[in-house]
Amino acid sequence: MEALLDKLSEQHELTEEEIVWFLGHLTPELKNKLYSRASEVRKQYYGVSVYSRGLIEFSSYCKQDCLYCGLRRSNWSAERYRLTEEEILECAAEGYELGYRSFVLQSGEDIHYSEQVITSIVRKLKLRCPDTAVTLSVGERSEGFYRALYNAGVDRYLLRHETASRALYESLHPGMSYDNRMDCLRILRGIGYQVGAGFMVGLPGQTHRHLAEDLLFLKAFHPEMIGIGPFIPHSATPLKEAAGGTVEDTLVMIAMTRLMVPDALMPATTAMGTLDPAGREKAIQAGANVVMPILSPLQIRRKYALYEQKICMGDEPAHCRSCLEMRIAISGYRMDHGRGDHCGYSRLTKKEHQE
Ligand code: 5AD
Repeated sequence: MEALLDKLSEQHELTEEEIVWFLGHLTPELKNKLYSRASEVRKQYYGVSVYSRGLIEFSSYCKQDCLYCGLRRSNWSAERYRLTEEEILECAAEGYELGYRSFVLQSGEDIHYSEQVITSIVRKLKLRCPDTAVTLSVGERSEGFYRALYNAGVDRYLLRHETASRALYESLHPGMSYDNRMDCLRILRGIGYQVGAGFMVGLPGQTHRHLAEDLLFLKAFHPEMIGIGPFIPHSATPLKEAAGGTVEDTLVMIAMTRLMVPDALMPATTAMGTLDPAGREKAIQAGANVVMPILSPLQIRRKYALYEQKICMGDEPAHCRSCLEMRIAISGYRMDHGRGDHCGYSRLTKKEHQE
């Protein structure tokens, strides 16, 4: 076991069989060693910085029907909202005042926000909030859409792969295509975005072998950003009776991912903070290095319910900022409100992609 941990920490790789074996034989002692190795490796690449991304959840409408998600179109009990361009820009401006220089615009797959609508929002945001990085997370769109938004100034794109197992993916996403999702990720990469992938831990039917597939996919694709969170069952979805993921299993996956893809930017997700008040701090200790404080207007926040009991629902952005700063400082890390680019990213690379 120690030998496998050494191989993972030094060579940043394991075979599928080794991963499955490792996951099946973890002891509490070994888990602690795994977390500290992961934490050492993130320090080699990013020091003690934890990057902030102000999250603006601008629409809860979704045309997809993912079995696990509270925003799925078949959830008639979900209250839906859309923010106007001006409301989105006001959220960003408030975050900018607080010092944030990195924003994530996220929504359900809502075609109301067409290429033209989002392009206009991004252009204005970049003008009003100079020197900021903008990440978009609006699901599967056309190559033309992705190109237009890149040219409008979007720097990064988040599209979790959700699970790298085709069979598991198909069982959870009626009407969606595994190949299309993977194609989207490749197209985004080809355009020059810093790309975010990621998966959920504790999905119904998910085995160690499925998780090994996730790790091997991430190793091969090498995304700049990797979001990993526990699946939390939502009572208005078909998976309401499922067990869901645990903080501990998610920490193992965060740490193993840090060791497989040492230079990734990895958030300590809100889902971790929801299952355990110290979940985000534990994620940071296990190799995560990004936090995503929510900047969405207080009145609509509850309606962006991918899962229930989400934390920080009533907290003003200024409160979130100081709360997270304190949590990070007492964990021995330092909050960095800058753009927080991937360590291998340079403007030059971005230019080369455009030519
Ligand atoms: N529990 C945890 N995470 C969820 N997501 C969607 N629904 C849930 C849930 N019930 C995750 C998906 C999606 C991201 C925005 O949130 O991975 O990509």
